[in-house]
Amino acid sequence: METDSSKQNNPLNTCAVILAAGKGTRMKSALHKVLHPLRGKTIIQHGLDIATASEALARKPVVVIGHEAEAVRSAIGQQATCVLQEQQLGTGHALMVAQDEAELLGGASQVLCMYGDMPLLRPETIRKVIDARTRYGAAIAMLTVTVDNPRGFGRVLRDTSGQITAIIEEVDCTPEQLSSRELNVGVYCFDGEWLWNALARIKPNPRKAEYFLTDTVELANKDGRPVVGVATDDIDETIGINTRVDLADADAAMRKRINRAHMLNGVTITDPSAVYIDADVSIGADTTILPNTHILRGTKIGDGCVIGPNSLLDAATIGDRCEIRQSVIRDSQVDEDSDVGPWSHMRNGAHMLAGGHIGNFGEVKNSTLGRGVKQGHFSYLGDATLGENVNIGAGTITCNFNGKTKNPTLIGDDAFIGSDTLLVAPVRVGDGARTGAGSVVTRDVPAGETHVGVPAKKLERK
Ligand code: UD1
Ligand code: CA
Repeated sequence: METDSSKQNNPLNTCAVILAAGKGTRMKSALHKVLHPLRGKTIIQHGLDIATASEALARKPVVVIGHEAEAVRSAIGQQATCVLQEQQLGTGHALMVAQDEAELLGGASQVLCMYGDMPLLRPETIRKVIDARTRYGAAIAMLTVTVDNPRGFGRVLRDTSGQITAIIEEVDCTPEQLSSRELNVGVYCFDGEWLWNALARIKPNPRKAEYFLTDTVELANKDGRPVVGVATDDIDETIGINTRVDLADADAAMRKRINRAHMLNGVTITDPSAVYIDADVSIGADTTILPNTHILRGTKIGDGCVIGPNSLLDAATIGDRCEIRQSVIRDSQVDEDSDVGPWSHMRNGAHMLAGGHIGNFGEVKNSTLGRGVKQGHFSYLGDATLGENVNIGAGTITCNFNGKTKNPTLIGDDAFIGSDTLLVAPVRVGDGARTGAGSVVTRDVPAGETHVGVPAKKLERK
């Protein structure tokens, strides 16, 4: 609750700036680094969500874009104001480019700056950095982490009194500086009045000819202004994505965090190391997720289900008490008390209403199956609408494509489709109608009639 009240009482206008203009050379990719997907969202989307969830911002964040600017801008849409850094002259320069926008947007009595390649930061940690700056009236509050084997990050240097005096990039460190185990994570909150003038005073780094944002720390010291460190002990939170190795590390850490949250919410995950759930998935209590299962892109699963092993649910909606075994469900919906699989595939707008059953080797595409439909074995339903309690015999196929167009099949309530029936669409089978095993149905079957043969004709009872 502290967060809410301090937000309301916070007289300071905080503006967030996310830096994402760099090329991301080390990814060796045609796709901009921040547009790479990570557990269902782009890396930059994670950054935007983190900044927003910190609940400290007066206005939309500002994102500094540069390389692949149009692609990044369109991924961001209306969520942030984008400013273009035409030449990537370093992190300090990038923030400078955002000045006009930041002042315009936030009034910017303080400026939160984070890098667009750090998707595991926790909103509450961001909030701590902001609050520390406010509390101490510091020029800079910054996030640090202390580790046993530092690698890659800028080193945080302190004087004997503990004041942070400088941040030096690893490659620029003397052997003595390298021995600092405290690292710069890359989240800063600046005094908005002090910041812009300080940025203008940064000198280019002699090695890279870039303006380093981290050099503001030395300037704060020169100005006699405090620099406050906020420590995190969650090393995962500090993963920055520079290479695809980092991307895999970030994925593993995020997966662990996501799975843990579901387990604490009442979901059983028998082997969390073999379950892959995207960030925006919801799962009800007492559902069990078995190994080698991927649950992706906003999938929603109800209570008391069993999912897996070996299943892929991608933008799927699954009702309560369903069982999905070794199957693939994409852009489709399964209502309560239904079961699918093993080895079946629902895709492209398939919808099975409550109490349905799809056995092994069933495929359903863009079709609605009424309540209690049974499709036991080896069959394909495409562009079909089925009423309630229809029985689909083994090997039934809707021939929905004539080589040029897709055509619909309609099957009424309680119809019984015999094994190996071919339904040549467009075609209708009425309520309570039946087809014989092996029939090829080229004409509508009226309600209550039985049609058999090739092509199927009405069976006259003698
Ligand atoms: C930076 C820090 C380092 C810290 C590390 C943490 C500096 C000089 N160094 O190093 O101390 O330990 O992050 O992850 O800040 N960017 C721009 N414009 C530019 C240059 C960079 O927008 O001109 C953006 C990049 O797109 C990226 C972010 O700034 O999102 C950080 O740049 P990056 O090159 O990844 O910095 P690091 O070498 O990781
Ligand atoms: Ca980085």
